[in-house]
Amino acid sequence: MSDQHSQLTYGSYLKVDQLLSLQEPQSNPVAADELLFIIIHQSYELWFRLVITELDRVITLIEREDLIPAFHLLERVSLVFKSLIQQIDILETMTPVAFNQFRAKLNPASGFQSWQFRELELLAGGTPQDYSRFASLEPEWFHKLKERGNKPNLRTTFVKLLQKRTLLTQSFSHEDFQKALLSIYNKPIQDELQTLCEFLINFDEQILLWRFRHVQMVERMIGMKHGTGGSLGVPYLETTLRKKFFPELWEARTQMGVLS
Ligand code: HEM
Repeated sequence: MSDQHSQLTYGSYLKVDQLLSLQEPQSNPVAADELLFIIIHQSYELWFRLVITELDRVITLIEREDLIPAFHLLERVSLVFKSLIQQIDILETMTPVAFNQFRAKLNPASGFQSWQFRELELLAGGTPQDYSRFASLEPEWFHKLKERGNKPNLRTTFVKLLQKRTLLTQSFSHEDFQKALLSIYNKPIQDELQTLCEFLINFDEQILLWRFRHVQMVERMIGMKHGTGGSLGVPYLETTLRKKFFPELWEARTQMGVLS
């Protein structure tokens, strides 16, 4: 009997009971669409966890110059973002009026405080946001993000690889970087560095597309109202739409011609 009880089951392995006890609506009586809102956000956080883990692995692989497995993981991460973009469609089945049934209860919580999203940005090579006003709310995360900011990220690791391959010197100018990228692309056959560049720009593009899709959905939900996190809402989010982790890869396109 006790043996049977200790056997692994689907539910005990995946902790389904615990998982289903984690959705706690703030509205009372519970607004009809709050469960959807919570589930979407929680599933995003789970996917963010995977993306952070995989990006860490990608960095180690690139450091070891083991690029083929890094490509697979970069593809995985981009596909995760593709599916996160699609999930916004599900959220949009909630009307603004249905959202307003519980929106006020969310104050001052906001996606702005998604520490995992911030970690992901740092891991990709983004510049740290000023989230100090939230530091006292979750000091552990604040500390974790500070630590993360001091570790190698995807961008610095990519630059190091180009230095190892003698395409860049230790101190290089913006122009040197452009020249290095053009030399990578100016090849009759796509080599592994060119493939890496394409995976990196793909990843960058998916995050930009997510940002764009998010802001569009936000405008559809709340128009020009301010965010629950205290920002201007849509006008603030629009300022994030030009955030690129690899701006040089985008810029290099302007100079690309035919093979010489
Ligand atoms: C009804 C749905 C949603 C609305 C109305 C909404 C609204 C907003 C607003 C207004 C902001 C700006 C910060 C603020 O003042 O609050 C923001 C930021 C953010 N939201 Fe959402 N959001 C929604 C759904 C989501 C979902 C499903 C996610 C997934 C995790 C998410 C993730 C984020 C992130 C990561 C930020 C920070 C963006 C940045 O600073 O670059 N949001 N959201």
